[in-house]
Amino acid sequence: TSTIDSSLPPLAPVYPPKDGSATRNESPKLAKLISLLSLQQHIEGGYFVETDRDTNRVPNPFLNTTPSASSSDQTTFYTSTGAEKTRNASTSIHYLLTPESPMGAFHRNRGRTIHTLHRGRGRYVIIHADQVMPEYDSHSGMRAKARVETFIVGQNVEKGERLQWIVDGGKYKSSFLLPLGGEDAADNGGLLISETVVPGFEYSDHDFMRIERLEALVTKEQADEMRWMLRK
Ligand code: GUN
Repeated sequence: TSTIDSSLPPLAPVYPPKDGSATRNESPKLAKLISLLSLQQHIEGGYFVETDRDTNRVPNPFLNTTPSASSSDQTTFYTSTGAEKTRNASTSIHYLLTPESPMGAFHRNRGRTIHTLHRGRGRYVIIHADQVMPEYDSHSGMRAKARVETFIVGQNVEKGERLQWIVDGGKYKSSFLLPLGGEDAADNGGLLISETVVPGFEYSDHDFMRIERLEALVTKEQADEMRWMLRK
């Protein structure tokens, strides 16, 4: 059973992980969807297109929140200097996971993200890096441990699947494709969602989880269960 949420299956890839740079052989239906929506490969895995960038600019709420190089906080890898005075008020994207690109690797954004399901089914894992509790781990003794949250997104509301989910800024997020049930693996029509980030997305407000950080945030058992969700 899972060391993270015993009510859900262990965190393991359902669709075979693939090399991110490999040429993808999507089903004709998915290839058409990718083409119609003008989706591009995302560096996190999956496909995306930015559908809106509000030209209205707001004061940058992350101004001067980056620790200086001399700071003892070695856990922040955002590249923004914290000096940009403004941000676009919001941005929105479509995001798609497919059997050929079935996983969005652990990363975080400074902005808060509102996710809305269009179709398909998937599993999310959130590491609350901002809610770290000292807790005993048999492998390493007393260490810092962040809350790990996992849930299913999908149309089956009666079974607790979510149609909309919010991830606050600063939390690490990963996701992977699940079958709807019944279909052949190759018939999966993908997980298609929309995401709105407030304030708008900038790469400088984005960073990937690193193995060292994962191992520092969670227990060894949890890290072992989630290692495959890191960016290769
Ligand atoms: N460009 C690259 N990744 C992203 C993203 O996640 N959101 C937006 N809006 N633009 C991007």
